[in-house]
Amino acid sequence: MPLLPSSSAFLLSRATLYIPSKSLSTRASAILSALDIPTDPIELDGVYDGEWKGSGDVLESICPATGEVLARVKSASPKELHTAIVKSREAYSQFKSVPAPRRGDIVRQIREALASKREELGALVSLEMGKIRTEGVGEVQEFVDICDYATGLSRMMNGRVVSSERPGHSILEVPNPLGVIGVLSAFNFPVAVYGWNLAISLAAGNATIWKPAPTTPLCALAITRVVSTVLERNGIPGAVAALVIGGRDAGEALVQNKDIDLGMNGFSSPFSALIFILFHPTSVSFTGSEAVGRVVGKVVQARFGKVLLELGGNNAAIVAPSADLTLAIPAVFFGAVGTAGQRCTSTRRLFLHRSIASEFLSRLQSLYESLTPGDPLVSSTLLGPLHSRAAMGIFGAAVADLNHTGAEILAGGSPWSGLETALRSGNYVQPTIAIPSSLPDTQDGIWTTERFAPVLNVAIFDELEEAIAWNNAVPQGLSSSLWTRDLRDMGKWIGPAGSDTGIVNVNVGTSGAEIGAAFGGNKSTGWGRESGGDAWKQYVRWSACTVNYSDAAPLAQGVSFTV
Ligand code: UN1
Repeated sequence: MPLLPSSSAFLLSRATLYIPSKSLSTRASAILSALDIPTDPIELDGVYDGEWKGSGDVLESICPATGEVLARVKSASPKELHTAIVKSREAYSQFKSVPAPRRGDIVRQIREALASKREELGALVSLEMGKIRTEGVGEVQEFVDICDYATGLSRMMNGRVVSSERPGHSILEVPNPLGVIGVLSAFNFPVAVYGWNLAISLAAGNATIWKPAPTTPLCALAITRVVSTVLERNGIPGAVAALVIGGRDAGEALVQNKDIDLGMNGFSSPFSALIFILFHPTSVSFTGSEAVGRVVGKVVQARFGKVLLELGGNNAAIVAPSADLTLAIPAVFFGAVGTAGQRCTSTRRLFLHRSIASEFLSRLQSLYESLTPGDPLVSSTLLGPLHSRAAMGIFGAAVADLNHTGAEILAGGSPWSGLETALRSGNYVQPTIAIPSSLPDTQDGIWTTERFAPVLNVAIFDELEEAIAWNNAVPQGLSSSLWTRDLRDMGKWIGPAGSDTGIVNVNVGTSGAEIGAAFGGNKSTGWGRESGGDAWKQYVRWSACTVNYSDAAPLAQGVSFTV
């Protein structure tokens, strides 16, 4: 099966990708202008540390839908990267003493500024990442929501008073700001995941340095412009929210001294991870592949830095006999096909009870057949392109594996052909449903590997316990969902013998979590928790302070040491 289109249009798109050309896509101009990003200079500055600059390699932002160059961005040179980190530390020294409710008010102003540009920023996410417009706008909304949360939190980041066993003593558990947080984010949520970290981190009194995925620099520039305008207006140093678009220079300088496997990593630059480790920010939040996360985790741990990992998902939906199929079928469809299968939380495995399997599959297949890909900016489009050529390769490899191992392909299985001319160089693939030849509890890579593409593998079960065991049989542990009307199933599912993932849903799909609860996964997903819930507790340093207000100085545990 051809993994990539072989037409002349494809050759043309490769030329657009690799041969420098002066012409930029006109698709970007209106959106960028609406966000006050100049479209005239051919190369945009990709570093912000209080000032805009950039003299490293030039990165191209490529439109996933057309293959055109949207813009060129000057990345950080190693020196600029170093300066940005130094300036972030200085900014942190100042910012940590700003009272928390005042910091919360700044987050509130960022929220207002983002909300006033919600549509424009959403369109930019759609343009550069490739997700459909409503999802692009939804991502900006997710940033707005977490700002609301962090604003409230800024008045509630409380410690505790603990009873002391000694008379006239009190013990306080005190949270203080942590330092500089390096935020390494992936291409698939180029706005929201930074938002989770920035909003909480600011409320907690930290500075952040953001290294976005190298393929979504425009989203990062646009967001940083909004945030920096608010900071500057409030007399806060801009380096409290610094940005470095990562470049080859900085990456190579690091890699020279390290024998690092830069190979398989679907959606995050390995360089980006390394850059931050070298310069030792206090804490590193990394969203990306398991392969890179493993390296980040070890290296940060080796210097006793804090690390917060949000890595791969291999999420299952289970449909029990009592499930309401009119709810479950469209939800599984969205889970598997939404964002063209490129959410960490996308549904990748589907376990159907034998009694409903054939009806479920035939109705799901009809939905797949009704899909036509289109321009993600057009509001009626439900299926946009994959983000990049690399993602096309991941899709192609997944389908090739299924074919080689004798899987039954029920839908899709190829790149799209016959698209309208404008989209022929886009990264369009047919969302795929397959019944693999192996069972989901085997170590077959088809089941155990996260494939960041719209490929849904299906198996049929007889007992719920069997499906729960399959759900738990993979290394990853991000999200899972059970469709049932039976209270007993639900109890089992969310209890100790149930799903082992960080997100465990009932009659709700695997993707699309709200910000209120902590987001993250277990096992090889990295155990990290971002966003809501108690996630903020990782963005502060905790002190246990015992205060003696008595006239004696007794030792704990009744120890006697009389001199
Ligand atoms: C991700 O895919 O990395 O729950 C984040 C969701 C979104 C966030 C996904 N709110 O699908």
